[in-house]
Amino acid sequence: MSTSTFHVAFAPLDVVIPLREAIIIAGTNRDTPYFPGDEAPGTRHVGAFNGDVCIGCATLLRSTWEDRPAWQLRGMAVATIRQGQGVGRALLAFFDRELRPVAPTIGIWCNAREKAVLFYRKAGFQVESERFHIENVGPHFRLFKPWRQETLSP
Ligand SMILES: CC(C)(COP(=O)(O)OP(=O)(O)OC[C@H]1O[C@@H](n2cnc3c(N)ncnc32)[C@H](O)[C@@H]1OP(=O)(O)O)[C@@H](O)C(=O)NCCC(=O)NCCS
Repeated sequence: MSTSTFHVAFAPLDVVIPLREAIIIAGTNRDTPYFPGDEAPGTRHVGAFNGDVCIGCATLLRSTWEDRPAWQLRGMAVATIRQGQGVGRALLAFFDRELRPVAPTIGIWCNAREKAVLFYRKAGFQVESERFHIENVGPHFRLFKPWRQETLSP
């Protein structure tokens, strides 16, 4: 996918780590920017790039939702000076376009910071939990975006 000022593509883990660290990890007490499963074969890292510069990132990990295969979205981050310009929306649209047709998954779930919930809702995610607190990060909600289910066995 591309727009006039950035394009979105799959990316190696090391390319998304600096932005993940700066936007997601900084200010928390987490001691590492790495997530369990980051290097698993099924994991997909995605970046939004202005030239070679990574201005947005996200990671999809193989997971389940209600015992059925689903992606877990983690590490969603847009560089501060590029927030509010459609980069995050383009990352989520990339998943829908590139992964939804090929992966036997029923959708994407994530634990979203409260302040970002409206962003996800605008992209089709539904709130699936009560508000809960993650220590040193803040209030969160669990969200799910359903994809088609007809290709999966019950
Ligand atoms: C949250 C974040 C990923 C959104 O990406 P973004 O590129 O800034 O968002 P976009 O410009 O693509 O916005 C898409 C839509 O969501 C809205 N939106 C974006 N961030 C929002 C927020 N925090 N609260 C409410 N609405 C928001 C935009 O206004 C836009 O709405 P529109 O379609 O009606 O115009 C980004 O701002 C970010 O990295 N924030 C800091 C880290 C963070 O909170 N990450 C999420 C952890 S769960």
